Amino acid sequence: MTEPLGIFAKFADLTEQEQEIVRRACEAADQGAAHELSYKSNFPVGSAILARNRAGESRIFAGCNVENEWMPAGICAERNAATTAAYEGYKCFQIVSVFCRKFPGGSPCGMCRQVLFQFGRESALLAVVDHDKSVRKSRVEELLPAAQGLVVQYKDMSLTERKLVNRVQELKRRSHVPYSKAPRAALFLAANHNGQRKIFAGVSDDNASYGASALAEAVAMRAARCAGFGTAIELVTMVVDLHALNPVEGECLQVLREFGENTAITLVSSENASVKTSLEELLPDSFGPEAL
Ligand code: THU
Repeated sequence: MTEPLGIFAKFADLTEQEQEIVRRACEAADQGAAHELSYKSNFPVGSAILARNRAGESRIFAGCNVENEWMPAGICAERNAATTAAYEGYKCFQIVSVFCRKFPGGSPCGMCRQVLFQFGRESALLAVVDHDKSVRKSRVEELLPAAQGLVVQYKDMSLTERKLVNRVQELKRRSHVPYSKAPRAALFLAANHNGQRKIFAGVSDDNASYGASALAEAVAMRAARCAGFGTAIELVTMVVDLHALNPVEGECLQVLREFGENTAITLVSSENASVKTSLEELLPDSFGPEAL
């Protein structure tokens, strides 16, 4: 498993306010379990968020994971708490806490990271790591860091690299993006059981109900699965800024995580420059299948 983020702290060493937030996250997991809201996974998670509104008032909002027969229609605890806070007008997150009852130490998934990042990238994250409510303290922005690698210009790329870059740029025209207006494409290099390698393409596919939209990377990875190519080799994807925080959408990183802990990722800019990075770099301390 990847290295956990943050600094360990015992419950007794937290401030009273931090203790209250951690307690509320643990209670939310218990309440969700009591109502059998995680009935499919039997993996109750609770989250509590201290957030500020426009008037400068702060409040704590809590939520648990609420599952659905149709799995993608379920929601994680963190996003449940986050959307409740936002609904009440508390959009500036200050402290986020999360507790996985069966697997203390679990960390937010890619989609939750994306939502938490938007409402407070600088907020503190208190991930409960044991049943004594000890935590690991980090910051939300550490969950979706920037790629550190050097930029490679198109002219300095190998022929194979250039081909991949050209293909991804060409493909983006096939995107269906009437709402996001962000045409994007991705290529996923994968291998099958016989060691045969293949490249799968994906483009972004928006939906009038935004949450039903599919991102280019996810489309490519799902196509590979469908063809029986379950060993990830590399994800090549387009980004706006090669060195920005959160260069690749959290959900895509989470989909990639299912293939393994550390796949190579190549980011391609609209100017055809690229940076080599990895899943471990862009999604540190990730939530993966081992947790369940
Ligand atoms: N889950 C969360 O609530 N938060 C996370 O960060 C990871 C996963 C939930 C979703 C689902 O109900 C169950 O845990 C198994 O993934």
